[in-house]
Amino acid sequence: MNYIMEQQQKKKVMCVGLVCLDVINVVSQFPEEDSDTRCVSQRWQRGGNASNSCTVLSLLGERTAFIGSLSEGPVADFILKDFQKYRVDVSLVSEHAQCDSPSSVVISNISNGSRTILHMNRNLPDVTAEDFSKVDLHQFRWIHWEGRNAEEQVKMIKQVEMFNSRLPQEQRITMSVEIEKTREPLYQLFPHGDVVFVSKDVARHFGFDSAEAAVKGLYSRVKKGAVLVCAWADQGADALGPDGVIFHSEAFPPQTVVDTLGAGDTFNAAVIHCLVEGGGLHDAISFGCRVAGWKCGFHGYDGIS
Ligand code: ADP
Ligand code: FRU
Repeated sequence: MNYIMEQQQKKKVMCVGLVCLDVINVVSQFPEEDSDTRCVSQRWQRGGNASNSCTVLSLLGERTAFIGSLSEGPVADFILKDFQKYRVDVSLVSEHAQCDSPSSVVISNISNGSRTILHMNRNLPDVTAEDFSKVDLHQFRWIHWEGRNAEEQVKMIKQVEMFNSRLPQEQRITMSVEIEKTREPLYQLFPHGDVVFVSKDVARHFGFDSAEAAVKGLYSRVKKGAVLVCAWADQGADALGPDGVIFHSEAFPPQTVVDTLGAGDTFNAAVIHCLVEGGGLHDAISFGCRVAGWKCGFHGYDGIS
């Protein structure tokens, strides 16, 4: 291995986006409205797409950093401790002492693995392009944005483009974006990733009823040379790159699906990990489906490695 490759391998993968508290209620049957039932178990888990993807990247052996906002108090303490447990670098987190910590109440149904999420985020601001400009980009080989405050995120991406323009190809940072929610402002992120993850919700919103139709139909929105990836739960995932070949991976369901919370975040992390380590696109979505499918067989993420 040459010196440059060795230096690149020491660099981290950064995920930019949400961290929140997930209060997970495991039930054996979905409750009726206005009923009073006992759940099987209840736990706190660190959540948020970018935060979950950091967990999975770290479990897969990647050096990982998270950038997002955090409040102060017992929830923030729990979150920070948990990031440490998974060796995720949080030195770049912005603290907002006066704000409430975002949280989700999750009903996780073990009879079919469904996850019903009630999310609350009252006043915690997202990371801005100004916050991001303080980051020393030399430490990173890949940056992934969970689409949120898209206008600011485009400015961050432009900062990285500027940084990249001064470097030879092999030392540049690869950028990925996730467009998960059906919110109009997020669609401006399509032309800004080297790898773009679009969710089945967004695909359906645009009138596509499969991952294959989505990558074909939405490809004109991504930049030249980019890759578009769409995961579709138990149907697996599809990807389309600049050579026009559509790759498909089937899903790899576990014996029993018990917990699909964060399956998409797991898929994204596993795809990124495979691509960072030099894998091809077909291998990457297949690995993504294997890891995400495996994850659906147990609660949380610890069983991944
Ligand atoms: P999310 O709703 O969490 O964003 P997706 O539905 O997009 O997740 O699924 C992401 C990936 O997780 C899929 O491509 C698939 O590989 C895996 N997956 C999700 N649900 C299942 C399931 N029921 N069986 C097998 N694999 C699944
Ligand atoms: C899973 C997740 C949860 C969080 C919710 C936020 O993908 O990130 O951890 O509560 O989505 O929308």
